[in-house]
Amino acid sequence: MEKTALITGVTGQDGSYLAEFLLEKGYDVHGMVRRSSVDYRERIAHLEGNKRFHLHYGDLTDSMSLMAIIGTVRPDEIYNLAAQSHVQVSFQVPEYTADVAGVGVLRVLEAVRLCGLAEKCRIYQASTSELFGKVEEVPQNEQTPFHPYSPYAVAKQYGYWIVKEYREAYQMFCCSGILFNHESERRGETFVTRKISLAAARIAHGLQEKLYLGNLDALRDWGYAKDYVECMWLMLQNDRPKDFVIATGEQHSVREFCRLAFHYAGIELEFSGKRIEEKGIDKATGKVLVEVSPDFYRPTDVVNLLGDPTKAKKELGWNPTKTSFEQLVSLMVNHDMEKVLHERREFYDGKTF
Ligand code: NAP
Ligand code: GDD
Repeated sequence: MEKTALITGVTGQDGSYLAEFLLEKGYDVHGMVRRSSVDYRERIAHLEGNKRFHLHYGDLTDSMSLMAIIGTVRPDEIYNLAAQSHVQVSFQVPEYTADVAGVGVLRVLEAVRLCGLAEKCRIYQASTSELFGKVEEVPQNEQTPFHPYSPYAVAKQYGYWIVKEYREAYQMFCCSGILFNHESERRGETFVTRKISLAAARIAHGLQEKLYLGNLDALRDWGYAKDYVECMWLMLQNDRPKDFVIATGEQHSVREFCRLAFHYAGIELEFSGKRIEEKGIDKATGKVLVEVSPDFYRPTDVVNLLGDPTKAKKELGWNPTKTSFEQLVSLMVNHDMEKVLHERREFYDGKTF
């Protein structure tokens, strides 16, 4: 029998890859979308028209819309990916972030229960390495204590615990994927990797002078989003509901990402100076192309994320290094070198948050 899946956050980076993945597996895929004044769903436009792909208006802050969608679709699997997912933005909209990324999880779980689907429906919750925050050990695994370090992370911590509670209280098949950063050519343009790959491409094409960044020392475990959505699915095919750390086990700084991205755009960068005075200089011309701006510093920043994916490798048979760091940076820059040629804006000042 064909399975039915519901994806919240289907218009996002992960939602779009997951929808493709599940359609390829033969699922009937339903996605929840928000009404917007610009109805341009770039990441899923190629899927619209597919007879097994259906969209419904709803919002994670609106219980009634969730009840209506879940009660009508009666999914076998729900992937709850919707969230205000930008950590720096969460300092500016903390209450809304808590409502969506925290209480929103409860609304999904409760809607499943109230619709009488507690036994039938399996739920994946998009949890995050941000839970480890001000890290208490390196690398981080499923046993590492949490120390969330932003309004976003605190909201996601509520999501994590409420999933565990529903699993134990109601024996529901619900689990959290503690995913480390994963990027792609579909990554939102204000996350650091995409901001860098786009800027490198625009600077190489003469469409931008400089790139302004925040903390260049921050360390991340960056994987490829397309590889990570497979894990979300594997977690729901498991015998029992369990939480997993999903990561590559390899760590790089923002500076390293930047140097490699510019290299793939044909520019060799050399960094000099410290903290706010640090600059990335084009070795060939001596021009300053990268500067540090306090605008991109956070009140509290997570600086040392490195995941240990042993459990996912052993129990799910997942390969964390299918796409290497070098391949990831290269495919993002190659994509953006092509994309910027078709852009309508004439020039970018590089200061946009
Ligand atoms: P993303 O690109 O920012 O996508 C977020 C999605 O959530 C979008 O579809 C967005 O819709 C939707 N959304 C936001 N607020 C909503 C609301 N109130 N009601 C309904 N939908 C709402 O994020 P992503 O990178 O794909 O990440 C997917 C999930 O994984 C998020 O929960 C994120 O926190 C979590 N996560 C991501 C990473 C990562 O590195 N990417 C790592 C760990 C965890 P619009 O298009 O309408 O804005
Ligand atoms: N966005 C951004 N912009 N980050 C910068 C910049 C900049 O100009 N300069 C330096 N950084 C640093 C941030 O301070 C942070 O330490 C690091 O780069 C990564 O920032 P983001 O790319 O914004 O991602 P994130 O790690 O904060 O959050 C992402 O990963 C989480 C998983 O660990 C998001 O996808 C979250 O939703 C996800 O939970």
